Amino acid sequence: MRHFLSIADQSAVQLVKLLDLARDLKAELKAVGNKSLLQGKALGMIFQKPSLRTRVSFERGMEQLGGTAMYLSPAEIKLGERESVPDVARVLSRYVDAIMARVFAHSDIVTLAEYATVPVINGLSDLSHPCQALADVLTIREKLGALKGAKLAYVGDGNNVCNSLLFAAAKLGMNMSVAAPQGYEPDPAILAQARGFAAASGSQIISGNDPGQAVAGADVIYTDVWTSMGQEAETQVRLNAFRPYQVNQRLVSRAKPEVLVMHCLPAHRGEEITDEVADGPHSVVFDQAENRMHAQKAILVDLLT
Ligand code: CP
Ligand code: NVA
Repeated sequence: MRHFLSIADQSAVQLVKLLDLARDLKAELKAVGNKSLLQGKALGMIFQKPSLRTRVSFERGMEQLGGTAMYLSPAEIKLGERESVPDVARVLSRYVDAIMARVFAHSDIVTLAEYATVPVINGLSDLSHPCQALADVLTIREKLGALKGAKLAYVGDGNNVCNSLLFAAAKLGMNMSVAAPQGYEPDPAILAQARGFAAASGSQIISGNDPGQAVAGADVIYTDVWTSMGQEAETQVRLNAFRPYQVNQRLVSRAKPEVLVMHCLPAHRGEEITDEVADGPHSVVFDQAENRMHAQKAILVDLLT
């Protein structure tokens, strides 16, 4: 059984295959509409956290490919509370052809995959957000033409989004420089794993605390919220720690003149990114959001056909 749980599990060849498929499905959709590659297939979508992009892009993606998607809200499933994670996996597998889940504990995604008899897709956990990273590299490749040798500066929290970007960059030969406040850097084990992949692709992975240094020579500046879903109690402490890490016009002007500015959204405007930058000429945040759908359709077609 193949799943899509982490970018780390995908070979570089497989990632490029998914990117090419996403590109082709996107072009086909815009030209003539997609063929019904997933006719009669159903996706079950488990959410323990809120979502706009993930829910709607998976649902529309399935629809465009001739299938259906079923939204299971946090209140309905109560994963691990009303029913054990293995039982949810085994029951859902009898009804649907694939499961997408957004969870708190990453171990719950792993357990779902262990017990499901259909493919499981990680729609965000506290550890990673691989669908986001795939859409992001699709966007970067569209805009820059190539990924190898490009430099991505990630400014902010060493979180789930950062982790998946580290793996994607390292696998695909992009250099990535993270600038996070002390204590909020990416996990050393994730960095070590990413550096292992980077050694094979010839890219460089740097983790530091200086945003100016990270963005110097960058082709892409990426940021995400300072307080992720589930960390709300830390909001004030984090606001203080992250204040010097705002992506604003001053920071953007220190990167390459044509730098792309990216954010997975939702954004806390005025915190990690200013309105001026999010709505400015460098921003590609809405192209990124659209590409979630194209990238995920490629994952679904790859797993289900
Ligand atoms: N970027 C992203 O995953 O957005 P949602 O939380 O709205 O799904
Ligand atoms: N890091 C954020 C990403 C949201 C898409 C979170 O986990 O809340």
